Formats: sequence, structure tokens, C-alpha cells
Amino acid sequence: PRILVMHGPNLNLLGTREPEHYGRVTLSDINLALAQLAESAGVELEAFQSNHEGALIERIHAAREQGVRAIIINPAAYTHTSVALRDALAAVAIPFVEVHLSNVHAREPFRHHSYFSDLAIGVICGLGHQGYLLALEYLLNKLNIE
Ligand code: DQA
Repeated sequence: PRILVMHGPNLNLLGTREPEHYGRVTLSDINLALAQLAESAGVELEAFQSNHEGALIERIHAAREQGVRAIIINPAAYTHTSVALRDALAAVAIPFVEVHLSNVHAREPFRHHSYFSDLAIGVICGLGHQGYLLALEYLLNKLNIE
């Protein structure tokens, strides 16, 4: 794939998980919408979800071997905890956009810090599932990925 979309822990439960924060759209709905937008632009996109930190790290390592040009990542709770996942993204040096469904800054203080934001091209939060599509539009336009 040219673009990799990564979803961290518990995002497989989207649709039923705390809908007041995360909405009613499922992860499959999100992945389908992203796949359709990518396809219309002729860009190969793959989505990956894991509840395991190591699996996410290994997927990032593989992305470098595959020549992935850009990553859209919602690290979910690892946003606030994972130096290891941050280091993986720094190691492969693949540009990425950080996405959160909820506005993390309007929530508990422990969600206000991200280990990813200073390395990201940009951060989208609080726009629900649309945030992923906006991130993809940005990457398709700005990185001129083919
Ligand atoms: C989240 C926000 C995180 O704080 C939380 O742990 C998540 C989802 C979001 O998309 O709003 O699991 O990344």
C-alpha cells in the first residue's frame, strides 16, 4: 500500500463503544469510506487495527519495507502512553497524520498530552469519523501520492 491507516486499541469496538465520545460509526464503515476515497484517487490504501502495542510497532516497521508513503494513525490510548510506538514512527521516518475521533483537549487531563503530535505532519481531533477522510484528502493533495 502507498497509504497505511492504523487504528490502535479498542477502536475495533467503534459503533458501540462510548458513542457519546466516539459516535455510532463502525470501524468497517470508516475503513470502507477511506478505501473508496483512495480508490477514486487511484491510490492503494490498507487499514490495520490492533489491540497490541508490539503488533502496531511491527506493522510500522513493515511499512518501511513496503515503501508506504504516508500513515494516518489513531494510536487511541497509546497516544498518551507509548514511547515505543512513537519511536517506531520516528525510526521509519514515514510522514504521518494523527487522528482522534473525540476532542481529547476537552476531556480528562491525561488525554491532553500526546507522544505523537510533535512528530506528526498535523493532528485532527474532535471531528469524529470525518477526521480520517480529511486526513486522507490532505495526504492525497499535499503529498501527491500516486
Ligand atoms: C481516541 C482518544 C484517546 O484518548 C482514547 O484513549 C481512544 C480514542 C480518539 O479517537 O478520540 O481510545 O484516540
